[in-house]
Amino acid sequence: MTRLTDRVAIVTGGASGIGRASATLFAGEGAKVLVVDRPGADLTFEDAAIQTLAVDLADAAAPGAIVARAIERFGKLDVLFNNAGVGGGGLAADMTDEAWDAVQAVNLRAVFRLSREAIPYLIASPYGRIINTASVMAQGTDWGLAAYCASKAGVVGLTRSLALELGRHGVTANAIMPGAIFTGMTQANFSNPAIAEVWAKKSVLKRLGQPIDVARVALFLASEDGGFVTGQAIAADGGLTLRI
Ligand SMILES: NC(=O)c1ccc[n+]([C@@H]2O[C@H](COP(=O)([O-])OP(=O)(O)OC[C@H]3O[C@@H](n4cnc5c(N)ncnc54)[C@H](O)[C@@H]3O)[C@@H](O)[C@H]2O)c1
Repeated sequence: MTRLTDRVAIVTGGASGIGRASATLFAGEGAKVLVVDRPGADLTFEDAAIQTLAVDLADAAAPGAIVARAIERFGKLDVLFNNAGVGGGGLAADMTDEAWDAVQAVNLRAVFRLSREAIPYLIASPYGRIINTASVMAQGTDWGLAAYCASKAGVVGLTRSLALELGRHGVTANAIMPGAIFTGMTQANFSNPAIAEVWAKKSVLKRLGQPIDVARVALFLASEDGGFVTGQAIAADGGLTLRI
């Protein structure tokens, strides 16, 4: 219950799925958390250690507003968890520039822009951490996922560079690559038992992941336990990607 005592964390995409589970877990471990999600998302939390901000991460002014709010409320920043993401895009042959850009804006560009905004504060922290949610689709692919896969491979590349550049300041940067997790993003598909069964069977643990399965990896990376891990992309996929 004390692995993040007195730490301050920002969690994006915290209204739902992996982000909500992570924000709740971080707060339960003693952190103060600023949950960020888009306007209209469900930003109700019981825990007083969790504050919220409704903002679209694709907006130019979002990074400044988010970091300023965290500093205003909590006075410092230790952990940035860039977790928000969107799917979609479609087949490459048919994809519009707008559809491509909409995916990159949230999944990759916002990760870079919010990290850049947070870096001075993370350097000032003795426990600076950047955690980015990528995907097993950073390494694999499926039909209609060109924009998504490109964005997630980009997140892994960005994470490595952040780790390299920030290491001398004691700041770590790592990515998590979730497999098939039952969340808001996948609810429509995984509510269909036939689809859920196919994906559960692909995992060597024979089940879909739950948001908490990924949140626990984020907690490890955010805490003292993950202090010597940097520049890595850690799969949290129940062994989904073991077989070729
Ligand atoms: N669910 C899976 O199987 C799976 C697998 C691999 C990776 N991921 C990644 O996990 C991360 C979390 O997704 P999830 O599965 O928990 O889905 P989710 O839909 O439950 O949560 C994503 C959250 O991001 C928020 N968000 C999206 N665009 C935003 C924007 N422009 N501004 C602010 N907030 C925005 C959404 O409102 C939502 O609350 C994403 O980056 C996703 O790509 C998920």
